[in-house]
Order: sequence, then C-alpha cells, then structure tokens
Amino acid sequence: MRPRKGTAAGARARGRSERRPARKAPAAPFPPDFLWGAATSAYQIEGAIAEDGRGSSVWDCFTEDAGRVSDGDSGAIACDHYHRYREDVALMRRLGLNAYRFSVAWPRVLPEGIGAVNQKGLDFYDRLVDELLRTGIDPFCTLYHWDLPQPLHDRGGWLNRDIAGWFAEYVAVVARRLGDRVRRWATLNEPSVYIVHGFDTGEHAPGERRPKRDQLLVAHNAMRAHAGAVQTLRADAPGGRIGYVLAIEPARPAGEAPADVEAARRAMFRVGAGHLWASSWWSDPVLEGRYPEDGLALYRGEMPAGWEKDLASMRQPIDFLGLNVYSASLWRAGADGQPERVDFPTGYPRSGVGWQRIVPSALYWGPRFYHERSGLPVLVTENGIATSDWISLDGRVHDPNRVDYLHRALLELARARRDGVPVEGYYHWSLLDNFEWAEGYKQRFGLVYVDYLTQRRIPKDSFRFYRKVIASRGGALLGRTALPADRVVDAGSQP
Ligand code: FCB
Repeated sequence: MRPRKGTAAGARARGRSERRPARKAPAAPFPPDFLWGAATSAYQIEGAIAEDGRGSSVWDCFTEDAGRVSDGDSGAIACDHYHRYREDVALMRRLGLNAYRFSVAWPRVLPEGIGAVNQKGLDFYDRLVDELLRTGIDPFCTLYHWDLPQPLHDRGGWLNRDIAGWFAEYVAVVARRLGDRVRRWATLNEPSVYIVHGFDTGEHAPGERRPKRDQLLVAHNAMRAHAGAVQTLRADAPGGRIGYVLAIEPARPAGEAPADVEAARRAMFRVGAGHLWASSWWSDPVLEGRYPEDGLALYRGEMPAGWEKDLASMRQPIDFLGLNVYSASLWRAGADGQPERVDFPTGYPRSGVGWQRIVPSALYWGPRFYHERSGLPVLVTENGIATSDWISLDGRVHDPNRVDYLHRALLELARARRDGVPVEGYYHWSLLDNFEWAEGYKQRFGLVYVDYLTQRRIPKDSFRFYRKVIASRGGALLGRTALPADRVVDAGSQP
C-alpha cells in the first residue's frame, strides 16, 4: 500500500527532496560579535575584606553600624569570590558568556586610597583577568563601584576637590597593571545612586544626609573624577574602550504616537525638584560639557564655587555609554502637549524589589533615547530582577519569573537593534546572588543561586535559559508567544 500524503510514513517514503521546503529559519537577532555578559561588583561578591593587605572601605564601616543593613548583613564573606574566582569563571564558561563585567576594589589596590600600592591586591585582579582571557571571556573592568577607601572618606572623600586627583592616581595603577589585557573600562558605576543614597537619603555608605549644596558638590567632583580617569586611561591603557555607567529609569511612551514618544523623551531628560535622580544631570556635563538648563534653574544658587570653569574638562570623549536599566515610568503627551505621567494600573507587577516595575520595553526606550541624545554606542551594563528563589524538592532552583523577564527584555533589546540602535552588549545583573547593599542577602538577583552557608553555587533555570539564548545568538527568543514582550497585565488594563 502506498503511503498517503500527509502522513509521517508518507513523508518518510517521499524522502527529504520531495518534502515541502522547510520554512527558512529567521536570522538570529544578535550579531556574532555581540557581547553576552553578566555583571558583578567587588564588594558585593569578593568577601576576604581583611586579606592580603586590603584596606577598609566606606561599606566596611557602614555595615558595622547596627541597623544600617537588613539583618545586619555585610560583604565580609559575601560569595567568597576572592577565593573561588576560578570556580566562578568556570560557571561563566558553562553559561557561554563571552564577556564579564567586574569591578576593582580601590582599597584592595591602595589600602590608604593613595600612596603605597598593595601588590597582592593587584595580583588578584591580574589572576582573574588571565583566567577570563584563558576561557575566552572579554574582561570589562569598572573602576569604581561604590567602595571608597575609608581613609579618603576621612579626608572629605567625594566632598573634597582633591578626589579627582586621588582617583586618577588609583586608575593609573590599575591601568598600568591590567591595561595590556583589559580592553573595556568603565570609570564610575551609577554616580546618581551612590550619591543620592550616600548623601541624601543616607541609605547607602557613607550614610549621610546632607543639604543639596553638598550633594551638588559631590556630584560635580564625581564627574570631574570621571573625566580625569578617562584621560588617565587614554594615557596608561592605550587602545582601550572607555565608558561611563549611568543608572537610568527610561520613560516609556504610553502609546507609540509621535506626540507620546516626544513627551516621553522630554520627561526622560527633564530635571525636576527632589532627589537628584535625573540622568541628564549626570550625563550632560560628561557628554556635552554643560549642566541641563532646567536643573540649573533649580540649583544655580547652590552650585560649587567656580563650577563653570570645570565644564570644558569634564567633557572627555568616551567610546560607549553603559546603561543600567531596571525599571521605567510611563508618559504621554498631555492636552497642553506637556509630558504627563501615566499611572501604572492597580496591581501592576513588580519584582521582588519594591522599586522595580516589570517593564521590559525599558530595554528598548532607554538605549534608543540615550543613543539618540549622545550618538554613542550603548552597552546594557546591568539589567535583571530579584525574585524569591530557593532550592526546590528536586534539588534545583526554579526561577520562572526571571526566565520570563529575561526573555522579554532581550526581545526588546533585539527590537532596539532592529531599529538601528547600536547596542553592543548585554550584561545581566547578576552572575551570582550577592550582597545587595542595604538589603543585605535577602534579595537574590543571580543566574546562579548561592547557598551562603556552604558557598555552593547552583545554576538556576534562568542560567540554562540564558545559555540557550547565547548559543543561538538570540534565536531561542523567537517563536510564537501568547503576549507581546512588553505586556505583563491583561490587555484591558494595559497602560
Ligand atoms: C544597581 C547596582 C548594582 C546592584 C543592582 C541591583 O543599582 O549598580 O550594584 O545592586 O542595582
């Protein structure tokens, strides 16, 4: 009997050549040189705070202060990465990463902040970089991720104008040691966050609540220090690609009508009264050599003496912009054409972190608006969510919400690339669960679960998902889904 058409037996009998031509697989959404990364920072993972001559940082002191950090946690041991970095690099390799963003702890390299160099501290980063390169992973070094040497804080820290020189001295030491191998650098991580939380709300080290005048001085000095670091890196790590990492909360247009898009763009770069969160305050001096006019209208009277004279040198050409993207706000054009904030519907989803609304298209609008403003290529230097993860009865760690969020976020990033935004890489926050600042260990952001009692690492489901995405250059993201990437509530209540 002849096998009938349409049956499996029929297909087998007709053989390959007679089958209907298979539909062409869609092209992978990300190019072969895309940087697939994960990010961490020194104080959050290293531990070993008193080893091999490390000096103390403002975070060591802050965490000693009772009541500052949830459950009295500190980074004293953290993920013990200082001793387990080989195991952690092996995990990165298993994951298929080709890029990794870490930070150098300033007090490990210069225990007093300036002066005597601690070779043993530098040796650690030397070994880490070699291990990464041996594994085929591009090391991306952040020079300042919030752990200021305490002795410098005692001399006024970020309030002292000399900090630009202190930072340049430290950057030169690191650049001379690692610059022959590290090709990607960031000066400061999220100056807005460590300064607003460190000097306004007091929730982060050094835990101060200072008047706006001081916050403006600290911000100004941070951007001067950034600029000095760029010049130092150009001299001492020639050929490296240098960036600056901003915390942004993209403004997502409520609809895609041009008027809403313009309203969102204006809202995103606007400086309002209140905490100094507005990202343009932190980017315009560095990118354009000017403070935003609307911000100056609010703060001109409290600016540091002679600020105008610093502007020209604060603007040093950089090679990319690093964007840390977690959440977004919603905007539309109001009746008067002005940006109007749109409330999220009741019950709109958040991650395990109170401040984070689940808005995957933040990964589209943030890179797009910032690229359009700066003309620079973009790296997403952080993105992720904290979820409530534990080891299940089957011994595995299931984190379906992280898998879903990562899937949606990367679809949105692919959309940005399709629309011409030069996004060169994505560094998931974080490789490992780690010390989440004032929240201690209660928020877990990792692709890898850390059992802090044993230091056992357990890759979560999201680790396996990300591995598939990386191996397929994003192909695994494609396919039919029940909802568009950015819709996380019922269509009826979609903003
Ligand atoms: C960012 C920080 C990073 C981490 C994530 C969750 O603001 O840069 O260290 O804490 O948030």
